[in-house]
Amino acid sequence: MEIFLDTANLEEIREASSLGLITGVTTNPSLMMMAGRKDYREVTREICYLVQDHISAEVTSMNAEGMLAEAKEIAAWSPHVVVKIPTIPEGLKAMSLVSQEEVDLGRLCQGCPWLGQCGTDIETARDLAEAWGIRINATLIFSPNQALFAANAGASFVSPFVGRLDDIGEDGMQVVVDIVEIFETYGMDTQVIAASIRHPLHITQAALAGADIATVPHDVLMKALKHPLTDSGVERFLADWKKIAGGE
Ligand code: E4P
Repeated sequence: MEIFLDTANLEEIREASSLGLITGVTTNPSLMMMAGRKDYREVTREICYLVQDHISAEVTSMNAEGMLAEAKEIAAWSPHVVVKIPTIPEGLKAMSLVSQEEVDLGRLCQGCPWLGQCGTDIETARDLAEAWGIRINATLIFSPNQALFAANAGASFVSPFVGRLDDIGEDGMQVVVDIVEIFETYGMDTQVIAASIRHPLHITQAALAGADIATVPHDVLMKALKHPLTDSGVERFLADWKKIAGGE
């Protein structure tokens, strides 16, 4: 199971990326607010420079036409960008429309301050965009049916929100389990991103459920990384080594 970082905070992304832990980043308007940023395109480009892999950026229009226009715009920022669309009726309509569209190769990466300095040259970027088209991450999923409808509408990724379901006394992880089973039963290639992850056990449970990806907040990822027995084990090995090697 791949791990994405659920944040728009560049420092957090830099740190997790330097540890080799993440293969993507998911953002949303609330995470932008938490990062103190409102320039969504600039933030996405900065993340793209750091990660060069899946970066989800969310539309903010509430009708299908607006979402379609935004999706075309966002997809031109980078071939690595995946357009996040809420799983509301207008969102499903937009998903069907967007999944028929191609990335405007003439506008791809244009005006990006990192063009020529990042790991993806413009020819490769065009090849990737041509191969992938405009990819959709169906967000705010709270039921297996919503995931099924989004996949049928052309979403490449679905994001069930585990923690928010737990918050209202439901079993969020069971929704992930059910979605994985449905997609397997019908051989659907839409990938499942376990989202709204609140603690390290959620990561393990998502992996056991067969989720393709878990998108994890920075603090949860750092907690999951640590174990007190690992730290005390390292200390003891070091102390014993000093005893026999005299500190060399
Ligand atoms: C997923 O893509 C969302 O950004 C995120 O996981 C929402 O999590 P929250 O419930 O902690 O806001």
